[in-house]
Amino acid sequence: MNTWKLEEHELDLSNLRKQESLFAQGNGYFGWRGTFEEGGVPNSLEGCYLNGFYETFPIKYPETAYGYPGQGQTMLNVMNAKTIRLEADGEPVRMDPDKIREYHRELDFRTGVLSRSFVFAASGGKSIRVAVRRVVSFVRKHCGAIAFSVTPIDFSGKLTIMSALDTKSSNQNADKDPRIGTHLPENCFERIETGRNGNTLHAVQRTIRSGLTVACAAGHTVTGESGCDYTCGEQSLELAFAFDCVPGSTVEFEKYIAYCGETSLCGGDGDPLTTVLGETEAAAREGFDVLVSENESYLSRYWETAGIEINGDDYLQQGLRFNSFHLIQSVGKDSCRSVAAKGLTGEGYEGHYFWDTEIYVIPSFLYSNPEICRNLLEYRYQCLPAARERAREMGHKNGALFAWRTINGAECSAYFPAGTAQYHINGDIAVAVKNYVQVTGDAGFLEECGAEILFETARFWRDLGNYSEERNGMFCINCVTGPDEYTALVNNNFYTNRIARENLWYAHSIYTKLEEKNPRRLSELREKIGLGPEEPQEWKRAGDAMFFPYDEKRGVFLQDDSFAYKADWDFSGTPKEHYPLLLHYHPLVLYRHRVLKQADTVLADFMLDQYISDDQIKRDFDYYEPLTTHDSSLSVCIYSIVASRIGYLDKAYDYFLRSARTDLDDHKGNTKDGVHIANMAGTVMCIINGFAGVRQYDGRLELRPLLPGKWKSYKFRLRFRRCLIEVAIAGEGVLLTLLTGKEMSLVCWGRTLELTENNPQMVPLNPADTAAPKEERIGIL
Ligand code: BGC
Repeated sequence: MNTWKLEEHELDLSNLRKQESLFAQGNGYFGWRGTFEEGGVPNSLEGCYLNGFYETFPIKYPETAYGYPGQGQTMLNVMNAKTIRLEADGEPVRMDPDKIREYHRELDFRTGVLSRSFVFAASGGKSIRVAVRRVVSFVRKHCGAIAFSVTPIDFSGKLTIMSALDTKSSNQNADKDPRIGTHLPENCFERIETGRNGNTLHAVQRTIRSGLTVACAAGHTVTGESGCDYTCGEQSLELAFAFDCVPGSTVEFEKYIAYCGETSLCGGDGDPLTTVLGETEAAAREGFDVLVSENESYLSRYWETAGIEINGDDYLQQGLRFNSFHLIQSVGKDSCRSVAAKGLTGEGYEGHYFWDTEIYVIPSFLYSNPEICRNLLEYRYQCLPAARERAREMGHKNGALFAWRTINGAECSAYFPAGTAQYHINGDIAVAVKNYVQVTGDAGFLEECGAEILFETARFWRDLGNYSEERNGMFCINCVTGPDEYTALVNNNFYTNRIARENLWYAHSIYTKLEEKNPRRLSELREKIGLGPEEPQEWKRAGDAMFFPYDEKRGVFLQDDSFAYKADWDFSGTPKEHYPLLLHYHPLVLYRHRVLKQADTVLADFMLDQYISDDQIKRDFDYYEPLTTHDSSLSVCIYSIVASRIGYLDKAYDYFLRSARTDLDDHKGNTKDGVHIANMAGTVMCIINGFAGVRQYDGRLELRPLLPGKWKSYKFRLRFRRCLIEVAIAGEGVLLTLLTGKEMSLVCWGRTLELTENNPQMVPLNPADTAAPKEERIGIL
């Protein structure tokens, strides 16, 4: 098995949609599903998406209420410029399994190139060899290209290559499954302009409601053609090139494509049409191979820090690389967009951004690509005005409430019990700011954007919760939904209260630091958001008094106030085909029972484990594990990480297995709608935070590495402040090497190490050998 590639040796149309998601390409700006250039295959889902490019539509509620979001947003399937159709003496070359021989397809994680080759058996015993390479550029964010090469094996005659820009595109319609489809009208675009200039086609469209412009251009490099026809219809613009061929002669055909779309937060990159025309021309001038080699350098830098090597398990190694590759393909790399739940690989969840970004994707990039994390957080900063507006709408006099699901910053979740009620999104963003700042030391970001996010979210918590006399004056947050979507609208969700406290405390501590270090910026900020002098102290007081439901009898943290009183779910009486439960039971039935869709308390125990003993984590894990269905793909990775922490290495490994190949092996049965980005990030976290036990507490890096029995060794790199270290874990121990930087201090299995240049250090794997001091971890509860 080549662990750097995803390969397919047979043309199997039965799993076409799933394969189209797996073979999808993207660069965080735009993405293409892995469809065949020829099209025309039944069941295929064509998909060209621009991250953050969307249409709005009115959400129709048969029974509405105050504050329900009025507008939905859906990432649009835009014009398809990939289409290339081939005819041999008038016979179309189709992806028909009966006529295709020597089929091979692969996606290379080191170049990002999707290659496909086959021999087409045409009628009359003629055969043609076709090889297609396609690339989406990581360096030129608007650009992609296709190199199409055709060789008649045993006939002379006429070959025609028709290259189109299909201007008619639409999204999938809503389905019974709430995770797929949209309610968009069929046509979302008005045509602004279409045309041809030489061998370049272009089209400009504008969305009807959101008013965003998208332009696309497709230029062609062709040699040896005997003619070229242009047609322009309602559905597409097309150039047909004719070639006179003899056996063995190869026609090389290249198509250079660029997309440019506006977003409501940032506009476009200049005039979209001028941009795409300029970009296609520049790319064509450089040539296909240059685009590939630029990608190769980009990705080799990526793998240098983000690559994780496992020695002893190719199957998992491939899964891990595949997931890391899709992450870099999907994540927005400027502050105008984030990362959709399915990346740019499909239409599941309508291209919306969720907490998946802050709690999964950012942690997975935190120690390898902090620049990406900063961009993602800056995107949230740009959403602050919308979040403030939403807080006012929700009845809060100050502060900001970020949207549970969104593209442009406004809330567009139509089901509030599992949408707006997930207030924890505010704390998720705040904790991501904290981790980013502490790992990078990026004071500039903190002062420019981070502090404002922290202050506004802290104010919101203070206003959302209340001190309850019945609870001895403790601070309670009522009527919220935590991460587990099989429980809704509860009081004192443990995760929410935990993350809110962190948000309140950190906002207070940053306020105090700014008072000392940058009072000018602080007073600017205070003025900008009208912050009263008594407010920061109030944040601290609310955090200190935060209430956490605890079951004394079992010694576990309760997911919420009601959890202990709920009925048990009849797991043994639930048939296998009833999972995921959300497709078979009314939400109220689920809400009434002790059954979890995904990690909730266990997630808080991982994220904020500085306040809690390992024994407590173990009791919580043992209690919640049998109640958790993992119907959400965001769950198994968290259970793997926590299992590692408490020494359940076999369980950690099993959960990791499930996470690593979720999409490759289609564990959820819905990879056809797009890959599961948060889970992919979770796979990376299983290694870094799970097996290697990496944590950072207030800027101090700690590791507790373990070696799963099935592996000989594994290694990865960590960027921390200005340093880069390599962590290599094998049977002999953990070898820590400082690769960049002068010195770095860290704690490995309780032992403080000072790493210096040319002085690698080895720490035994067995914690008993290092006599790790047991820290007092119980915080203020
Ligand atoms: C999960 C959410 C998640 C969303 C998008 C849902 O199934 O329950 O936690 O944010 O999917 O990935």
